[in-house]
Amino acid sequence: MLYLSIAQEAEHWLAAFRSTLPELEINAWPAPVDPSRVRYIVTWNPPAGFFADFLNLEAVFAQGAGIDKLLARDDLAPDVHIVRLSNAGMAAQMVEYALFGVLRFQRDFDHYAEQQMDGAWRQHPPRLAEATRVSVLGLGAIGAAVASTLAGLGYRVSGWSRSPRELPGIRCVHGEAALGALLADTDILVGVLPSTPDTRGLLNRERLALLPAGAALINAGRGDLIDLAALVELLDNGRLRGAQLDVFPAEPLAADDALWRHPKLLITPHIAAATLIEPSAAQMADGIRRLQAGELPAGLVERQRAY
Ligand code: GLV
Repeated sequence: MLYLSIAQEAEHWLAAFRSTLPELEINAWPAPVDPSRVRYIVTWNPPAGFFADFLNLEAVFAQGAGIDKLLARDDLAPDVHIVRLSNAGMAAQMVEYALFGVLRFQRDFDHYAEQQMDGAWRQHPPRLAEATRVSVLGLGAIGAAVASTLAGLGYRVSGWSRSPRELPGIRCVHGEAALGALLADTDILVGVLPSTPDTRGLLNRERLALLPAGAALINAGRGDLIDLAALVELLDNGRLRGAQLDVFPAEPLAADDALWRHPKLLITPHIAAATLIEPSAAQMADGIRRLQAGELPAGLVERQRAY
């Protein structure tokens, strides 16, 4: 049985699964089910202890690309597969989110918005895409799409990942040792990294200080990538130009958090790439069929790598 423990639009998800997997018994919370018959669960962040009753569970399909919350739980047996979404319509949204930020900084729209407040008619010298160094941190399905699209638009794009990657038109570097030199060679940094033991706090004070004067930052992966206090300090002392942040160490960001009102921050409420029901259900259904055939689904999480 496939069991959906889904907070929002459960009916829509159920309908999507029933039409893609007509052969499978599918139920959705709060319908009562015999937990011992559940093989697959689709969920995001269920309450503590939720998984303990499902003794014959084979796989949990996460309704998102980042599975840090699922990995941090203590009620999921180590032999249960965790499967995350791989693109499923998220890459295109992330491309748009990153592109908006890159254009905003490259074309000085952040400055013009400020100037409008003062009625200041002041033109800034143009900076061409090919003279704008964009570095994308994270080159998975989503980061690779971001890097390739920006490169296609003429930006000078570099990409950084944990293990080696090759992407046409992108200067790819990998490993922590290569990060410092990349940061020093960046005008706009785009973070699309998952939260793992390797990425948490990766952009600490020391590394943020390696960004050239006037550099800007966009973060749409996970909020714990960045030392926010250090970032604010570098914005306040004029070293960094601005940042566009979609993700935070604790979400939702509290209404009284000073970050909301920082003039050099553009804050969005974790909307860069939303989960789309149809492509996600189709990908999960494909994953279930593969597992039933003894194959591995796309997006299978390697627990020791944490993504
Ligand atoms: C959203 O943050 C996701 O992980 O898909």
